Amino acid sequence: MAEVLSHKSLAAIADQYGTPVYIYHAEKIAEQYEKLKDAFKSQDVVIFYASKALTNIHILKFIRSIGCNVDCSSINEVKLALHAGFDPSQVLYTSNNIAFSEIEEAKNLGVHINIDSLSNLEKFGKKYGHSYPVGVRLRPNILAGGNLKISTGHEKSKFGIPVDQFEKVLECVKKNDLFIQGLHIHTGSEIKDANVFVKGIEKLFEIIPYFNELEFVDLGGGFKVPYKEGDTETDIALLAAKVKEAFSNHPNPGNKPLQIWFEPGKFLVSEAGFLVCQVNVLKETASMVFAGVDSGFNHLIRPMFYDAYHRIENITNDVGPKKEYTVVGNICETDTFATDRMINEIHDVDYLVFYNAGAYGFEMSSNFNSRLKPAEVMVRNGQSFLIRRRDVFEDLLRSQLDI
Ligand code: LLP
Repeated sequence: MAEVLSHKSLAAIADQYGTPVYIYHAEKIAEQYEKLKDAFKSQDVVIFYASKALTNIHILKFIRSIGCNVDCSSINEVKLALHAGFDPSQVLYTSNNIAFSEIEEAKNLGVHINIDSLSNLEKFGKKYGHSYPVGVRLRPNILAGGNLKISTGHEKSKFGIPVDQFEKVLECVKKNDLFIQGLHIHTGSEIKDANVFVKGIEKLFEIIPYFNELEFVDLGGGFKVPYKEGDTETDIALLAAKVKEAFSNHPNPGNKPLQIWFEPGKFLVSEAGFLVCQVNVLKETASMVFAGVDSGFNHLIRPMFYDAYHRIENITNDVGPKKEYTVVGNICETDTFATDRMINEIHDVDYLVFYNAGAYGFEMSSNFNSRLKPAEVMVRNGQSFLIRRRDVFEDLLRSQLDI
């Protein structure tokens, strides 16, 4: 796989800022964005970065600087996006099971809102009627995505209003004279097959004609990125061709041409991120050799939570013979990053890098075991910048009351 940052530069950054450290490569994010823009250049497509993947405000600012919009999954993400300088018109709040007060707040901030329940849609209609445009998040009843934990569009998923209840949506729209500006679906994360998006479009076109003020169709995110050599990924060019064909098969029933919105998270930032740790302990046992690093699932939960595969390499000894290691963390719970993985011979003090750490890495980290969260560093134009200092002990006490 083409290296985004060399072992040598990753190790130099770890030397400079300490470990564990998350490192993000700005130009790789831009490259991914350009890939999408280029593939969809003949279509009216708007990209909203799903900021839940990584919300560091410097990443948000960079994403804004390359012309990308932003998708949020909480009112605080909305506020972070505005703080990072996005105009409200570039911010989308795709909500799920939230208090109506957050929707009111989002409306007052002037951002786009996708509502995912009949009850909130009803409240919105009663309060705002036709005065503020809104999107409806539908559950298309399509099973897709890398595993069940990250599948969101199927018949047992909590997300969105089931498409089979669209008549209730219509009733609510008529009763309250709602301005339905868009329809939204998101079927899951790590969707390899472009046909999943086509299926979603087909389902949407069954109901699109009932909404005559539509301006966009939001197809969510979920593009799959490669995690290892030879791994499959969403073929973006094929996806663009299929989306174009699916739309051209349906005449536009509304007054305005429909824009297509996407909300990629992993696609934009996964491969741009690295977690570098240091090996504290090597433990040889009868069945395996453990490499215990100065991190754990408190910093990168994906292997334990989703059985996710992250490529791991020894960046301070990348020529030694390869041996089998089980890479584990230092927290007081089983926190296996990889089992029996072939890695260049490890000595304690070596640095290991975990690839694909940009999306849902730092963002899902915690202070479990009262351990400190890592620093975050951004590399741009060949220069590294600290964009979040490592936690210090006082951070653990910051919100606790001294009574
Ligand atoms: N839009 C909506 C409404 C979403 O719920 C999500 C992800 C996205 C967009 C972006 O999906 P992406 O392009 O990143 O696949 N923590 C899990 C992934 C959970 C995704 C949640 N929603 C993981 O680390 O695999």
